[in-house]
Amino acid sequence: MPEQVNVGLIGCGSMGSELARAVHRKEAGSARIIGLFDEYHLGRETLAKELAFGADSEPIQVDTVVELVSLPNLDLVIECASQAAVVAHSETVLNAGISLLVMSSGALILPGFMRKVSAAAHESGATIYIPSGAVGGIDALRASKALLEEVTIVSTKKPTSLSGAPGFAEWENKEITEPTVIFEGSAIEAVGLFPANVNVAATVSLAGIGPDATKVRVIADPNSPGNVHEINAVSKAGKFSFRFENMPHETNPKTSFLAVLAAIETLRSICEPGLRIGT
Ligand SMILES: NC(=O)c1ccc[n+]([C@@H]2O[C@H](COP(=O)([O-])OP(=O)(O)OC[C@H]3O[C@@H](n4cnc5c(N)ncnc54)[C@H](O)[C@@H]3O)[C@@H](O)[C@H]2O)c1
Repeated sequence: MPEQVNVGLIGCGSMGSELARAVHRKEAGSARIIGLFDEYHLGRETLAKELAFGADSEPIQVDTVVELVSLPNLDLVIECASQAAVVAHSETVLNAGISLLVMSSGALILPGFMRKVSAAAHESGATIYIPSGAVGGIDALRASKALLEEVTIVSTKKPTSLSGAPGFAEWENKEITEPTVIFEGSAIEAVGLFPANVNVAATVSLAGIGPDATKVRVIADPNSPGNVHEINAVSKAGKFSFRFENMPHETNPKTSFLAVLAAIETLRSICEPGLRIGT
């Protein structure tokens, strides 16, 4: 990457705005946000104005991703929008030779999609970055990939954090007073039913034994201390357990604060060559 990393942002909601603010405060190395795209115009306008203060000039707001990737000297696109945005725009970004950081990682395990985007990246020389998001332990799963026998992830959230997901539809009007299993199945089934909730399951499955073999359980618990993810893996290299009790983001309870921090750290490490720990 060049000395200054010019970033185009897809999605100016909770995570995109927080990431952009961190970049503006120079917490992500040499990165600079030069372009914003969001189908919700008010969100992107508000963020553009906020970023206009200080040393950086106001980012350019664009109406399409084709415009975004045409911005002069663009190095990286960061997606903080939705699985639908990843499906719609990844190839446009990668075919233009621009690297892509994906937060809505659930899209990457949709059947056939990873093969398509990997081919586009390979062809143009671009890179796809997938931050660890709302969990950790991704390094251990990657390292023991060939020796893994079983990987399970249990995600426990307050009912309000699951509200709106297709997989929660039959529970929307029911009172949940105790921990209740809402879903049990594979990561590939989970991302379709909980597109805004279980990106972590997709990331875990990509690092480990794949989306069909990774087992997912989603639990609604009104007394959950936050967005809790528990990963248990059995492998010939040993048994691993990781538990994350995440604070939900203050403006979007579906998103964990740690996921925002992981995006900032990935961007910082892209910008700063040299020491790499755990990547
Ligand atoms: N990998 C992880 O561990 C992890 C953790 C938390 C959240 N996420 C994902 O990151 C994404 C962003 O989270 P958030 O909390 O900022 O969500 P948010 O709802 O606060 O903001 C998303 C923004 O993207 C825009 N958007 C959505 N689809 C779009 C499209 N197709 N084209 C253009 N704009 C679009 C929306 O208008 C909104 O402004 C979500 O998909 C979320 O599921 C991933």
